[in-house]
Amino acid sequence: MEIFVTGATRVLGRPVVQALVDAGHRVRALSRSEENAAVLRELGVDPAPASLFEVESLKPALTGSDAILHLATRIPPTMKMGRLSAWQENDRIRREGTRNLVEAALAVGGVQTFIYPSFALVYPDSGDRWIDADTTPAQPAATLYSTLDAEVAIARFAGNERRGISLRVGGFYGPESPATWEFLSYARRGIAALPGSLDSYFPPIWVQDAASAIVAALTQPVPSGIYDIVDDEPLRRGDMFDAVAHAVGRKHLRPLPDLLMRILIGTKYDDIHRSLRISNRRFKAVSNWNPTVPNARVGWARIVEERRVAEPV
Ligand SMILES: NC(=O)c1ccc[n+]([C@@H]2O[C@H](COP(=O)([O-])OP(=O)(O)OC[C@H]3O[C@@H](n4cnc5c(N)ncnc54)[C@H](OP(=O)(O)O)[C@@H]3O)[C@@H](O)[C@H]2O)c1
Repeated sequence: MEIFVTGATRVLGRPVVQALVDAGHRVRALSRSEENAAVLRELGVDPAPASLFEVESLKPALTGSDAILHLATRIPPTMKMGRLSAWQENDRIRREGTRNLVEAALAVGGVQTFIYPSFALVYPDSGDRWIDADTTPAQPAATLYSTLDAEVAIARFAGNERRGISLRVGGFYGPESPATWEFLSYARRGIAALPGSLDSYFPPIWVQDAASAIVAALTQPVPSGIYDIVDDEPLRRGDMFDAVAHAVGRKHLRPLPDLLMRILIGTKYDDIHRSLRISNRRFKAVSNWNPTVPNARVGWARIVEERRVAEPV
């Protein structure tokens, strides 16, 4: 297969393109600079200079592609999340970038599959109840409307034997994710830097398992639609914090006071503090995807163990 990828150079993109290149697919990826192009070549990927914000530049980049994986994003660092202006480029990538890719793909023809990793935190607070893509999204904070708009563009692409798939992915964790190391550095000081009550559920996903879900959606006969990609067993925050505490050799973690979290992450607080016990069963029913890390107890222990092996004392 010939596959066009955006956002190939970092957390999710790298393991996805690595798996595709290893499986013998031809991968082309949007490149924005010479530095970018050099990274892509090292990954065994052909760089395609283009801009998500110029449809005409996307047409030659997409010509000959069977599939598009739109993984680009510009999520601001935690300390800037509270400022709406920090989300502008991310919103543009999701809203305008996805729309332009759909338009260019339909214009050049031949693209059969379009996969977009959306975000699982769009659901309303659901307490202990299991939820999934059958649940109507909440009125999310302003920063999540653009991901719902991108899902609409993906649905518009679907039809006439073309597949459009949105994967609502949980919060990434794993050694590849800078957010993981940030969380761990607070945990080593006894702090849990995640808002929400201790009895509420948080839906994470191991990065490599998110990557294998993207590959499964591409290579298996998964029908068009929206699916949830999260751990098999999302934990309550209290249990997750205990697992991290155990992994870093502490008795407990102390959550940052809610008021402080609200000040630090502003409007994102409303999305992140909700109780979301999300099930991945819809995706498992249409693919043979199986996460290698079933829950955060296993995941956080693995992260700390890998670091210990990499940096023995
Ligand atoms: N992080 C999470 O917890 C999480 C959770 C759920 C879903 N997701 C989704 O998963 C996907 C991948 O996230 P990630 O964590 O892998 O992101 P990431 O590590 O920040 O990588 C972002 C990628 O997007 C590219 N990019 C940034 N701005 C761009 C622009 N204007 N035009 C084209 N490409 C641009 C970057 O390329 P350069 O190297 O050129 O900067 C990089 O390859 C995104 O759709 C994200 O919304 C993430």
